[in-house]
Amino acid sequence: MTPADATGLPASAEIPPELATRFVDHGAIARNVGRIREITGTSVMAVVKADGFGHGWREVALTALDAGAEWLGVATVDEAIAIRHAGITAPTLCWLADPWTNLAEAVRTGITVSCANRPTLVAVAAAAVETGVRAQVQLEIDTGMSRGGASETEWDDLCLQAASEEAAGHLVVTGIWSHLALAESPDPGVNDGQVAAFRLGVELARLRGLRPALLHLANSAGALEHPETRLDLVRCGASLYGIETVHDRSHGLEPAMRLVSRVTQLRRVAEGTGVSYNHLFVSDRPTTLALVPVGYADGIPRELSRGGEVVIRGRRHPVVGAISMDQFVVDVGDRPVELGDEVVLLGSPTRGEPDAQEWADLTGTIAHEILTGLGGRMARRHRYETGRV
Ligand SMILES: Cc1ncc(COP(=O)(O)O)c(C=O)c1O
Repeated sequence: MTPADATGLPASAEIPPELATRFVDHGAIARNVGRIREITGTSVMAVVKADGFGHGWREVALTALDAGAEWLGVATVDEAIAIRHAGITAPTLCWLADPWTNLAEAVRTGITVSCANRPTLVAVAAAAVETGVRAQVQLEIDTGMSRGGASETEWDDLCLQAASEEAAGHLVVTGIWSHLALAESPDPGVNDGQVAAFRLGVELARLRGLRPALLHLANSAGALEHPETRLDLVRCGASLYGIETVHDRSHGLEPAMRLVSRVTQLRRVAEGTGVSYNHLFVSDRPTTLALVPVGYADGIPRELSRGGEVVIRGRRHPVVGAISMDQFVVDVGDRPVELGDEVVLLGSPTRGEPDAQEWADLTGTIAHEILTGLGGRMARRHRYETGRV
């Protein structure tokens, strides 16, 4: 006898055993790559850092490359090495190398290492000597972000050192890149200063004898909204996963993640019932409360305790009371909700479901942080249009 036979509930085969699942839609990822390519007419780097923004870097990388992305981009050397160890040979750039990271393995496996200062460049050259493999390098210049990248005062020295290492046969500088600070602004002239600074930096690099073939500047917002930033390659993270990063602008992207859980407890309560820690919510009528077994330890922001909504049986219902570490409560009123019902936490706005941007707006952050913060005990299941699961 299966549990379903004994309880009269839906059969366990219809419901995954894990309490919360991130379903990743690879059709959406492939179509998003297609949209980016169509809009930009530029080569695409699929940014798969931070475990593919929580979608699973390996699976996302394979789908994005299949769909026409030409490069992969990650932050750390270790993320890049994992790509090679998974047998993926596509051009891969990592932009947070320092002299203490595993540069020898990066160089040996043909990863393109970004260098933003002399010590890192010298360490990459040393790794090339150690491995007997000419290193692939791209130089990062700061053009107004004041985060990573060589500053104006360091740039000439970095170019001179790179030219000298190139002449010695230790490395080849295949590109120069920078990062935009204000790309999410709809103002058409907002990037002009950075574009101009970038062009100056490239000119200086050429004067020092470098011949960078690839110039790149744009993230998703730059790529989709600011044509002057597209250059030879666009580095797309958010848009790959279906996040529209420019307020009130739509580029036909589809959210690639659907986060679902289910109702594991139902309780009918009287008017005046306090709910969860500190009774942040007190019911103003008799109502039914549904328990959802996922919480802040899994990346559900506690700020959703006020204003968060989920979808059950096609209808939105409010989160009520404080979100706990492992569970939260939804007020379903008098609707016919049952144990085992699917709870959609993140889905498609076109179907009236919340998406990561909605959560971000409610919690004062950006969708990137919402997606990369999910995890904990959540499972991930990949869905392919060909039926591969
Ligand atoms: C250097 C760099 N390039 C590109 C991206 C992708 O940005 P977005 O996710 O906004 O497309 C990131 C991500 O934060 C980044 O750090």
